[in-house]
Amino acid sequence: QSIYGELPILVINHKTCCAAVALQGAHLLFWQPSTEQTPVVWLSNKTNFKKAVAIRGGVPVCWPWFGQLGNPSHGFARIVEWKLDSCEEDENGVDLVLSLTNNQQTESYCNKPFSVSLNLHLGKTCEVSLSCSADFDVTSALHTYFGVDNIDSVIVKGLGEVYQERLADENKPATVGELTFNQEVDRIYTNANNQITVTDGTRTIQLTNTNVSDVVTWNPWINKAKSMADFGDDEYKSMVCVEAGCITKPLKLSPNKKSTYGFKIELI
Ligand code: BG6
Repeated sequence: QSIYGELPILVINHKTCCAAVALQGAHLLFWQPSTEQTPVVWLSNKTNFKKAVAIRGGVPVCWPWFGQLGNPSHGFARIVEWKLDSCEEDENGVDLVLSLTNNQQTESYCNKPFSVSLNLHLGKTCEVSLSCSADFDVTSALHTYFGVDNIDSVIVKGLGEVYQERLADENKPATVGELTFNQEVDRIYTNANNQITVTDGTRTIQLTNTNVSDVVTWNPWINKAKSMADFGDDEYKSMVCVEAGCITKPLKLSPNKKSTYGFKIELI
């Protein structure tokens, strides 16, 4: 365990990968398999490591709402401290389980009981799965920031062609099908394949989603990057978010049964 800024962090150095996880938000900060020269799961150089402030990059856990459906943006789970339930290591990597239940720090956001847990496998592959139970419905996303060599060469495949545009009409990017980037992109794809690839001309990352209804793609591009204090002006060139989520079909939770969704990342 280590401390970055104000936050306790679990640092993982395994023969298969290096990675780090913040207890705040059960937030995977970065993941770099030992075969790679650069992180596959990317963290901003400008991120805050402050209590109750969202971390920029990694895999933010958006729960129990996505985006501006409530306040704070993307839900409170990413800005409160989770509990580490277990940490086990074998030759394939490190497996962690973190959990969050309603407590003093969550009661100002939600006055009902709930239980959320996040399972992480960090090795040659990165596997993340979120389980939750409560007596209310939630929207959620595992908001992965992928590291790319150069956004100009990035092609995301497998998204399908049906999406909700989150930008004002006049900014609407024209691309459909395979997604490339030459301006700000912010979309919720509602009929994507379970398997999605992100190619940047140097490597291909395969994302396999389980039980998700939506895939969000986001790159802030030049002006939005400049407007974000916790994001470097040029960092939009080296990242793309491809997020597994349950947004247009919220998770219908029940107190006695766990709902689970997640993803696996591998290099192909
Ligand atoms: C994406 C949203 O998932 O997250 C974008 O689609 C948003 O609209 C982005 O700008 C970053 O959100 P935040 O709250 O971490 O700045």
